[in-house]
Amino acid sequence: MKNKFFITTPLYYVNAKPHIGHSYTNIACDCIARYKRLKGDEVFFLTGTDEHGQKVAQAAQETGLKPQEFTDQIAPRFIDLWQRLSISYDDFIRTTEKRHSQAVEYALETLLKQDDLYLGKYKGWYCTPCETFWTDAQLKENLCPDCQRPVEKISEKNYFFRTSKYQNWLIDYIKSHPGFILPKSRTREILSFLENSLSDLCVSRPKQRLSWGIPLPFSKDHVTYVWFDALLNYISAPGFVSDKNRFAKLWPADVHMIGKDILRHHAVYWPIMLHALGLEPPKAIFAHGWWKIEDVKMSKSRGNIVDPLSVIEKYGVDVFRYFLLREVPFGSDGTYSEKALVGRLNSDLANDLGNLLHRTLTMVEKYFKGFCPGQGQADEFDKKLTDQAKELPPVYYQAMEHIEFGLALDSIWALINTANKYIEDAKPWVLAKESKTERLACVVYNLLEVLRLVAVLTYPFIPSTALKTMEQLGLDVELDKGLFKDLLVWGGFPSGKKVQKDQPLFPRVEY
Ligand code: MSP
Repeated sequence: MKNKFFITTPLYYVNAKPHIGHSYTNIACDCIARYKRLKGDEVFFLTGTDEHGQKVAQAAQETGLKPQEFTDQIAPRFIDLWQRLSISYDDFIRTTEKRHSQAVEYALETLLKQDDLYLGKYKGWYCTPCETFWTDAQLKENLCPDCQRPVEKISEKNYFFRTSKYQNWLIDYIKSHPGFILPKSRTREILSFLENSLSDLCVSRPKQRLSWGIPLPFSKDHVTYVWFDALLNYISAPGFVSDKNRFAKLWPADVHMIGKDILRHHAVYWPIMLHALGLEPPKAIFAHGWWKIEDVKMSKSRGNIVDPLSVIEKYGVDVFRYFLLREVPFGSDGTYSEKALVGRLNSDLANDLGNLLHRTLTMVEKYFKGFCPGQGQADEFDKKLTDQAKELPPVYYQAMEHIEFGLALDSIWALINTANKYIEDAKPWVLAKESKTERLACVVYNLLEVLRLVAVLTYPFIPSTALKTMEQLGLDVELDKGLFKDLLVWGGFPSGKKVQKDQPLFPRVEY
């Protein structure tokens, strides 16, 4: 039986164009999803768009379109971007779909029936960009404590979810499941937030003020609060109401990948909603860091938004993916700059990886007419390289299981660097001159074998490059068919295979 693995991204608001911050979460999830498929898991990778709420309604109004027309125009932009970024998602959910609204209605009715919802009066402040209510005490200098923007005073009748009733359950759950909120520092953050008493969550908006939302099935005067609606996508998409068998197979999700700014919604309100509905919480919630530009936040008003499409048009998708996953330890914040990206492109991708492939294939053509020689007898000289190659898979495996992309890539690049040094030390050109053909064959075979392993292991990160590498090596291997273990056994390169040398993988770029 295959292991199921269900991973999700947040649903992106459709009020603005996607930027590199959004790409980051999807690239990270894609990397994990590809790695799991490589290992043989049955992956369900879910992404989508968050289409209701005040923010989206306002953006629609500015364009003169009806909200639904507006979201119909923007949602395809995300789909297009994910395609261009090689995001291998299995399902894309829009919160305006029927399968979703049905699940939201069902959840609301269930909670009402069991007296987990009540009608009350809300008095306080509202931040539209964050779609969040704040109390007087929470405001910072009269501004939203999260985004430091102006808030609006609000007093209205709304439905509330008895979140407070479940606070102690949640604290116990978090304490008894140390892998639930990751990285670990985020567990401490949430537990310290939970030291104060939790207020009940306001889950509706009066239609009079905001009509763009899923109507409450039991009140004609209200629509559902956008966060309450959106979080439920994680169960509506796998089929909570629309396909119960599929849902039973898929739930609970294995990882909700999110940015650190939306941790509270996911690690406090969402598990409580699930618990109240009689469902298990997800196995893990991972909050990654934020990308800044020259140390400031990316924002429309600052005009410093980096468009992922223009980056990939200029440098290619794998350069972008590689940069984001290599540049900072996953979980920490990072600073994006084109200069740093070009630096990584020239050094790691063009110099280290690209050169290793090109030099090796040139030797195969020059000394062996383009055919992979026999493996030959390795000796002391080869040991450093071959041992490192054999030790790499378990190190890589550990790093990937712990979502430590940087460590996984470091370990691959350490092997690539050893292989480049091995060429310098082995001096194949001298071996050829002195007709030491057996030794030369062994050296060239080892290099081809290292490149084959590198192609397998880099596949989750830079899939097109890994496939191109395989092609140039003359190998026809399916990398998403669960052959991970077999593919990583040293000595798997079939002798006698004809290589297909092509252009270098990454031309160097001047910046
Ligand atoms: N719609 C909500 C999520 C609902 S999930 C049920 C939302 N949408 S968002 O479009 O504003 O943000 C989506 C994700 O993008 C969040 O995880 C957020 O952290 C991430 N990022 C937005 N800007 C970012 C950076 N500059 N850097 C890294 N990630 C960032 O919140």
